[in-house]
Amino acid sequence: MSWLSDWYPWIKAGHIISVIAWMAGLLYLPRLFVYHAATETGSVQSETFKIMERRLLRAIMNPAMIAVFVFGGLLLATPGIVDWHSGWIYVKLTLVLLLSLLHHALALWRKAFAEDRNSLSARFFRMVNEIPTLIMILIVILVVVKPF
Ligand code: HEM
Repeated sequence: MSWLSDWYPWIKAGHIISVIAWMAGLLYLPRLFVYHAATETGSVQSETFKIMERRLLRAIMNPAMIAVFVFGGLLLATPGIVDWHSGWIYVKLTLVLLLSLLHHALALWRKAFAEDRNSLSARFFRMVNEIPTLIMILIVILVVVKPF
């Protein structure tokens, strides 16, 4: 596995680039839902939001999430990178699981909007919007500061 050590900086760069793309989607899609929830079903605006939401999820968020997992998995497999006796990695992986569940929930809500059967309010999506921000702050502190 020494090739992983040789490529470590490049793999980490790929990891951070894909994390940025995934986070952009996790922050922007619920914001689109906030505005979409306030539009009339069948209106021009509503149909435009449907296209924006589908493209954001399919063209950016899904591939970015897969790339985060692939690069992150390679970092985990790189010898000497993660000290498995420290606690931060376990908390980080739990938070990543929460982000993945949020991704899944956003995909289901997108489908509901696409089929004109969303019943959730703009206020609800405004609150959902805070979740990825909070998780991202915690993850960055865990991986950079490694407090425990
Ligand atoms: C499957 C998901 C993920 C796995 C397996 C994973 C794993 C890892 C590993 C092993 C490292 C190397 C740590 C080190 O060099 O000390 C790392 C670095 C990093 N990860 Fe992740 N990660 C994942 C998702 C995420 C997510 C969702 C974020 C942010 C929201 C994130 C942010 C970072 C950052 C900023 C670094 C660079 C830290 C540094 O400069 O040392 N990762 N990741």
